[in-house]
Amino acid sequence: MHSANHHHRGSSHGSGNVKPATRDRTVDLRQRGDLAAHSYAYYMLRTLEPGQVCELIADEDPRLLMDGVSLQLRGRIHWELVEEGPPLWKVRVRPRDDTPAGSLTDLLSRDHERLDRLFAHALACVNRTDVAAAQPYMHAFGAGIRRHLRVENEVLAPAFVAPRDPLGADPTSTMLREHDQILEQVAMIETCLEDAAAAGDGEPLNEAVTFMALLSGTLAKHEHREEQNLFPHWDRALAQAPGGEGGQALLQRVIDLLGDGTGGDK
Ligand SMILES: [Fe+2]
Ligand SMILES: [Fe+2]
Repeated sequence: MHSANHHHRGSSHGSGNVKPATRDRTVDLRQRGDLAAHSYAYYMLRTLEPGQVCELIADEDPRLLMDGVSLQLRGRIHWELVEEGPPLWKVRVRPRDDTPAGSLTDLLSRDHERLDRLFAHALACVNRTDVAAAQPYMHAFGAGIRRHLRVENEVLAPAFVAPRDPLGADPTSTMLREHDQILEQVAMIETCLEDAAAAGDGEPLNEAVTFMALLSGTLAKHEHREEQNLFPHWDRALAQAPGGEGGQALLQRVIDLLGDGTGGDK
């Protein structure tokens, strides 16, 4: 059952700067004017807010298009086909965080994204030399990343018996090594910011900016590798495990350990 949305049939959707005003929306691809379907869908969906639901209408099979848009939005949206054409296809789109995580990849990628956002806020504050504003973000990030790495190290890595390479080149060994590196860099940044807050001058901030740029690169590579290789591998292993019950229990355990994503430290 889905709610009967008002079909907003605005007149001039030809330009790229479309600002939908209502809560729930309808995006009708037939009204995209000169825009490519992908661009139109991307511009309309990238501002989807928590709690919002969007119905997308297409006169061609939108599956490839939705996969592309979702990828471009770094998986921030969740979509499902609710009506199959021809003549019309209807897709229900929601912010991914409004839907329960369905896999380890989904769940852990969301946590990556949440942590990235906190870190980006901290970095923005540090860039304008506002240490006081940076610290709450850095604190939430520090607690969140430690919790995230602990779950990967202590719950997930042991749950999947993967062959380990004696030279440490296998994905699990790489992950564990990079975690140590990340924790070291986080600690250095925290020290820099504490020193800067205590000293009250701009000098130690250069150091913090350097370490933060370093960590930003380390994290991006690390998260990408996990999301592309390790997590899908774990999900496949869970799917193939007999019974399937164990997979659901593990998923729930990770959900409980990561918390509700509101940043409370455990
Ligand atoms: Fe990791
Ligand atoms: Fe991770």
